[in-house]
Amino acid sequence: MASALSPQIRILDGGEPRLLTDIGRVDPESLASYREHGGYAGLERALTRLAPEEVIRDIEAAGLRGRGGSGFPTAAKWRVARDAAGERKIVVANLMAADPSALGDRALAEGNPHLIVEGLVIAAYAVGASEAVIAVRRDWTVAIERLRTAVREATDAHLGGYLVLGTDTSVQLSVWEGSGAYVAGEETALINALAGDRGMPLIRPPYPAERGLDDAPTVVQNGETLAHVAWIMAHSPEAFASVGSDESRGTKLVTLMGRVGTPGLIEVPLGTPLIDLLGMAGGGTGTTKALFVGGPGGGAIDAGSLNLAYDYDDLAGAGAIIGSGSVLVTDSATCMVDTARFFIDFNAREACGKAVPCRIGTKRLVETMDRILAATPRPNDFTLLRDLSRKVSDTALCKLERLASGPILTTLDRFGDEYRAHAERGECLSGACRTDGVPPLLQPLAGADPATGA
Ligand SMILES: Cc1cc2nc3c(=O)[nH]c(=O)nc-3n(C[C@H](O)[C@H](O)[C@H](O)COP(=O)(O)O)c2cc1C
Repeated sequence: MASALSPQIRILDGGEPRLLTDIGRVDPESLASYREHGGYAGLERALTRLAPEEVIRDIEAAGLRGRGGSGFPTAAKWRVARDAAGERKIVVANLMAADPSALGDRALAEGNPHLIVEGLVIAAYAVGASEAVIAVRRDWTVAIERLRTAVREATDAHLGGYLVLGTDTSVQLSVWEGSGAYVAGEETALINALAGDRGMPLIRPPYPAERGLDDAPTVVQNGETLAHVAWIMAHSPEAFASVGSDESRGTKLVTLMGRVGTPGLIEVPLGTPLIDLLGMAGGGTGTTKALFVGGPGGGAIDAGSLNLAYDYDDLAGAGAIIGSGSVLVTDSATCMVDTARFFIDFNAREACGKAVPCRIGTKRLVETMDRILAATPRPNDFTLLRDLSRKVSDTALCKLERLASGPILTTLDRFGDEYRAHAERGECLSGACRTDGVPPLLQPLAGADPATGA
């Protein structure tokens, strides 16, 4: 049985596994194996027993929100696309996994690809789409191979393709391989790339669900979101919503990394306190200083606030985001200024350059951070950091820009002493500043393989 995941994906025990349950049990290259584990029961229920609007109502009742970062209610997006004018409608699975520190989508695509295909066909049925594209990063070779096999098998078995399950619904499935920077995972950038243009975001509205690829209403959905769709259809909205916090129902795949005993991927109910997440990864390996929650556009939560719930609203209130589900744990030997500098540099490099405030502003922020780190600040550099961070955010064309300064603003607020020690005395309070290259802690975010650092 082919079940191996890429070496950097380790699945942790514990949590509330739903989407991860069958990884390692199901053969990802076999439709028969997926079906033996109950696969396509959700599709069958949706297509043979429910009208499209009833499927949307189920997804609404579950309270499913997009897992790709925006947290937008999935049912609301589907309804917009369903109600939009036009014969041709398209659904897209977003597996561009722009944030390299988040392993969830890749684990699903490699370990249980039919779960994504099933969710995508259900989504297509609900919105009335006849085309379904799986957009996947070109360098995920194992995932691509398995997704292609899954699409072929599903099409041959009439679980996709022509006249699905003998109904009058047809959904043409395809796999599209893409590449590009972090910004290329943003949905309008992805739509541009699918159309053959550069992966640059567009001004919204119109939203893709109204007018997207080739002007057709297009629903872009994250891979994990689609896996939840299949799970909800197979188990019920109530089962999905039985865990979670107020406006954040269900489970989420979280990648725990950095200074923890056992880095890896775990599925937890939304609303799980951050302190419990830390415990699930074997606790911090040193004196935990902060958790950077949400990846490059997230924010730093200090160790005194770890009772905070891991959900959309509590994190937003603390200047962080769920993002694509990464949680980077830092300890007393991690420099917060250096770490924030890494993130803003990442955002500057991985942006597309279309919006001037983003292109110029993020670079000026990197330079300002460098002056502080080198103890050569200009007199107004702290004011500049805050003002420019806000301006870049306020004038944003896309969310990369809107969120780019999160790591700076949260560390400036919570670890201002580290900034001052660097700027005024050239002293790193953590005693562990990077001298050259990317600190080992952050290598997974730089796209390096954490196992080899290459
Ligand atoms: C810079 C940037 C990168 C993004 N990368 C991804 C990505 O890799 N995968 C993804 O599903 N969504 C990504 N998103 C979010 C998408 O724009 C979009 O909201 C999402 O695909 C919608 O699906 P969902 O509602 O299921 O989350 C990104 C957004 C931004 C601003």
